[in-house]
Amino acid sequence: MEIKVAKTAGFCFGVKRAVDLVYKEADNKCCEKIYTYGPIIHNEEVMKDMKSKGIEIIHSEEELKNIQSGVVIIRSHGVPKRIQTMLEQQGLKCEDATCPFVKKIHRIVEEESKKGKHILIIGDENHPEVMGIKGWSDTDVTVIKTEEDARNFEVAPETPICIVSQTTFNYNKFKYLVEIISEKNYNISVLNTICSATKERQTEAESIAKEVDVMIVIGDKHSSNTQKLFEICSRSCANTHYIQTLKDLDMNQLKSARMVGITAGASTPNNIIEEVQNNVRINF
Ligand code: F3S
Repeated sequence: MEIKVAKTAGFCFGVKRAVDLVYKEADNKCCEKIYTYGPIIHNEEVMKDMKSKGIEIIHSEEELKNIQSGVVIIRSHGVPKRIQTMLEQQGLKCEDATCPFVKKIHRIVEEESKKGKHILIIGDENHPEVMGIKGWSDTDVTVIKTEEDARNFEVAPETPICIVSQTTFNYNKFKYLVEIISEKNYNISVLNTICSATKERQTEAESIAKEVDVMIVIGDKHSSNTQKLFEICSRSCANTHYIQTLKDLDMNQLKSARMVGITAGASTPNNIIEEVQNNVRINF
């Protein structure tokens, strides 16, 4: 049996950087408490492991207000500027693991809003990354996600607009929404801030799924990007299985396969991917 593991399976650069930073802090800690502002990734296994190392999650601004000492790690999604200011004012040690691609959007938004531009973010209003981006603007911000949002968007005609995107937004949809806004004849500057990691992972998963008899997609059941990968792979390979860890894999399903493909969502750690890969190899 041949096994094809996607090169882009698992952590993207920004998530890997954030996870590594948490473990580095945990290894270096003497007596300081370590917190992450929000869960560092959506993966139960990793979160359990971090908890066992004494790392705690701060869930809200309210919770943060009550913390007097320790290290707070900002996850790859980033945070609004006021959270960074709070950390400084409370004398907490801050380790910033905001992905550099997200940090770049913060800088753009901060600078462009200082020029008086209205900030238009194309993305999901409730996503922590978008909430973070919003918090770097001094001027008004609108978040749009759908065609209807784009058609309804309105500001005073003389207001200049700066358009940015959530890093994981779909490029074609971004282009389409920008086209709709362009028809309104505002003075707009468009910055495509989409990160290619997600797209590359999806494209590779699809091409592997087309070649294999069985496709395995590994990721947390709550991870939306893993669900998306599963959807994409299922379209090309009817025998696609969604598992969280090796425990969920039924080896009987692989019995007659000549070629098995493996990919994993952005928050699946390497050791889980390797464990699955090694066990498939050993069994066949
Ligand atoms: Fe960064 Fe792109 Fe990952 S923005 S966190 S490398 S998906």
